[in-house]
Amino acid sequence: MFSAEQIGIRVRELGAQITRDYADRSLALVCVLKGSFVFAADLARAIDLPLRVDFLGVRSYGAGTETSGVVQITQDLSYPIANEHILLVEDIIDSGLTIAHLMDLFRTRAPASVRVCALLHKPVRSRVTVAIDYLGFTIEDRFVVGYGLDCAERYRNLPYIGIIDGS
Ligand code: IMP
Ligand code: MG
Repeated sequence: MFSAEQIGIRVRELGAQITRDYADRSLALVCVLKGSFVFAADLARAIDLPLRVDFLGVRSYGAGTETSGVVQITQDLSYPIANEHILLVEDIIDSGLTIAHLMDLFRTRAPASVRVCALLHKPVRSRVTVAIDYLGFTIEDRFVVGYGLDCAERYRNLPYIGIIDGS
């Protein structure tokens, strides 16, 4: 679906945009594990600002390729976020339930702001409205893997984003 070169160009554009928007503020990137680890690593290096990086482990229970929207935190942040500008980094927003849940959770911790940066968005499958402040690509309803995204924990190491046959 997207080559390593196409992804690289788009990630650098997002990084430049984030650099401009947060020029006078301190920023903390929150990488939503596991799918976002590759994107967050590249995005962090495309942002030319002093920043913190933290990790949040989540698991959403669901059958097969469907999310249930019940989000379990498997690893919490290592540092408080009160009064901090937070950018949540997500691999893909599908139903939107995961990111909506995380936005609600984060608001209870009184950060200065919370924005969302997602590499991919499947608007066709949206079940809740979420504002995506920075978006890499809008895609059709196919199951995609690579660049951190998995299918049953495989394919995360592909340098490109591919489509699972028949999805
Ligand atoms: P949501 O809660 O439905 O928005 O689902 C978000 C999560 O589902 C993502 O962080 C991914 O882990 C997973 N997911 C959704 N669609 C795909 C896909 O096409 N490929 C791989 N993972 C996906
Ligand atoms: Mg996943």
